[in-house]
Amino acid sequence: MITIYSPEEVEKVAAAGKLTAETLSMLEKAVEPGMSTKDLDQLAEKFIRERGGIPACKGYQGFPATICTSVNEVVVHGIPSNKTILKKGDIISLDLVVELDGYMGDSCISVPVGHINKKNAELLKVTEEALFAGIKKAIPGNTVGDIGHAVESYVKPYKFGVLRDYVGHGIGIEMHEDPEIPNYGTPGHGPRLEEGMCICIEPMITMGKADVMTLRDGWSVVTADGLPAAHYEHTLVITKNGPKILTMRD
Ligand code: MF3
Ligand code: CO
Repeated sequence: MITIYSPEEVEKVAAAGKLTAETLSMLEKAVEPGMSTKDLDQLAEKFIRERGGIPACKGYQGFPATICTSVNEVVVHGIPSNKTILKKGDIISLDLVVELDGYMGDSCISVPVGHINKKNAELLKVTEEALFAGIKKAIPGNTVGDIGHAVESYVKPYKFGVLRDYVGHGIGIEMHEDPEIPNYGTPGHGPRLEEGMCICIEPMITMGKADVMTLRDGWSVVTADGLPAAHYEHTLVITKNGPKILTMRD
């Protein structure tokens, strides 16, 4: 069932989204070689709780942390650890869901650790641009397939992989609501978008093949070929004037 949120409820998703974005901005500035992914997780949890939010990932299906920290070949759901020390040249995806006053915001950015090589920089740039290509299609009357098709076709010329095993989703009262928002699709197919729907678009793009597997920690999703991946995500609401991003950073 797809929920249509009232303007009052959308305000609450927006407030949660704003805190999500502020937390990511803080983390982006904090990332540097030598720190552990656990350090980042602790910074995030403190920041969110001080502002009255709840780290929604913590305890979600047993996930043990506030943020997902996915380094290099880890695509999504990396678990923060004091054994994972960031080094120059790494890329790290920081994925975060904040609950505030009963509503959720969800966003992800991929961040360079110090100087990164050109190919990795291109992977980050293309993944973020693919997210915006999808967002542009999030207008009333379009379908979920229009979004997925836009993401997939944006990435195609770069010959990167587009994950099919994990998808975006509706959001609001729950972290994951209907509809699913794949990063592939056929224009005009899938559920129709309407004013008041809140959705997360989240392309997960790999340098090589899109095949992934899950590590024995039960969470970390890694590329099968060991090549790096990037992940960007925004929460947005469909309005009559088009998409309104609720997790925009300054
Ligand atoms: N933020 C992720 C998403 O985009 C969910 C994190 S999984 C969790 O859907 F278990 F860590 F919460
Ligand atoms: Co999400």
